[in-house]
Amino acid sequence: MSRTVYVNGAFVPEAEATVSIFDRGFLFADAVYEVSTVLDGKLVDNIAHMERLKRSLAELKMPAPVPVDDIPALMEELVARNGVDQGLVYLQVSRGAAERDFVFPADPKPSLVMFTQTKNVESTPASENGLRVVTLDDTRWARRDIKTTQLLAQSLAKQEAVERGGDDAWMVEDGYVTEGSSNNAFIITTDGTIITRQLSNSILHGITRRVVLEIAEAEGLSVEQRPFTVEEAQGAAEAFSTSASGFVMPVVAIDGKTLSQGVPGPTTRKLRARYIELARETA
Ligand code: PDD
Repeated sequence: MSRTVYVNGAFVPEAEATVSIFDRGFLFADAVYEVSTVLDGKLVDNIAHMERLKRSLAELKMPAPVPVDDIPALMEELVARNGVDQGLVYLQVSRGAAERDFVFPADPKPSLVMFTQTKNVESTPASENGLRVVTLDDTRWARRDIKTTQLLAQSLAKQEAVERGGDDAWMVEDGYVTEGSSNNAFIITTDGTIITRQLSNSILHGITRRVVLEIAEAEGLSVEQRPFTVEEAQGAAEAFSTSASGFVMPVVAIDGKTLSQGVPGPTTRKLRARYIELARETA
């Protein structure tokens, strides 16, 4: 028996339910969710779940696709249509489909999907016998070296940078720059040394970063791979970021402090030109 699920205003058989591949929940983890339990066909603690949903939406500045106060009735209808006596209702709100961009879409079309899961919640082997737990380091999210689609933090950072009049965000941890919202961060000191953070779990191992370091070496430029602070970056001669989509992108101001007279610096421009030349040769 196929379940009936809810997708953006329609109750449909689960096989017919679709969400765009451009949905920001899919591309950026730009989505929030709730799980409410069904007991005796009724939703448990659902007012509190709706309050938390409102808070999550507000924290992400995500518009609700329908008024949150209207959602419980939709959940109840879904429970009734699926004849759930015991189980769960899963609901997810995303910022919806938009052209892929870390900055929020100007005109978001948020999406709401919901489905039920029928299961015994009252009495299970676990509730009868108890669980054995294993302790692990809390790594949420300390594995930035893995290129996952868990991009919500970067999306929020870039959005805030834009709201504050910038073009991009450089992210800082313990006073040191980690990387850009979707790029690796570099500075060039006044004595011409190129500095970028060393590879670790704290940053993405950028392909463009690697190639730029190879170019720098081939050009006989001095390179240091180490963390740098915001203050050191503000005092640098030049700065730039690297990514597949931006190649070598000049940075001319950091938190309002102008670098290299507010124009792309000479070494940055040289690295960019050389990168594009090499890209043409090797693509
Ligand atoms: N982003 N750091 C982060 C957090 C990134 O998301 C990216 C790439 C990079 C640069 O990696 P590469 O040089 O391999 O592109 C560094 C891509 C371009 C994006 O999400 O659009």
